[in-house]
Amino acid sequence: MASSICDKLRAGVTTASAAQTQALAATVAAALPPDTALALHGNLGVGKTTFVQGLARGFGVTGPVTSPTFNLCTLHRSPSRLLVHLDAYRIESAREVEDLLLEDFLVSPWCLAIEWPEKIADWLPPATWHLDLSITAAERHTIRLR
Ligand SMILES: Nc1ncnc2c1ncn2[C@@H]1O[C@H](COP(=O)(O)OP(=O)(O)OP(=O)(O)O)[C@@H](O)[C@H]1O
Ligand SMILES: [Mg+2]
Repeated sequence: MASSICDKLRAGVTTASAAQTQALAATVAAALPPDTALALHGNLGVGKTTFVQGLARGFGVTGPVTSPTFNLCTLHRSPSRLLVHLDAYRIESAREVEDLLLEDFLVSPWCLAIEWPEKIADWLPPATWHLDLSITAAERHTIRLR
């Protein structure tokens, strides 16, 4: 990841609206190396799906990006990246994540964005970027790179 956005995220970036979170995520998309997983940590409503919407826009995905909670995984193809959006909320065992055959979907250049990554902690690729999302105040959400 380009050093400036990386340094900013390590210090923590606070956004004042969903649109600002999406704009930040689009910047991350532009700087993110191919074949990288992005683990989006944080509670209900903290902005994980909102962040993935911005990532998708940054990659040039044109279709809508919604929460994949009920189908676990959604694929978006763009000229620059295959974006695989996984919501692990309902996953309860390592067996369930293996049954998804996710690695078969990861055709380079890919980006795997994961909501509730702690559910599949043992499965995460070694080169995963971990982002911690939190709500600082109403509308103000903080995003920090571990
Ligand atoms: N600064 C902000 N950044 C991101 N979202 C914000 C911000 N301010 C307000 N919001 C609102 O917070 C909500 C975040 O919802 P979102 O679905 O992205 O969360 P989530 O972490 O994916 O939740 P879930 O755990 O249910 O999947 C949206 O309604 C969004 O408009
Ligand atoms: Mg979500």
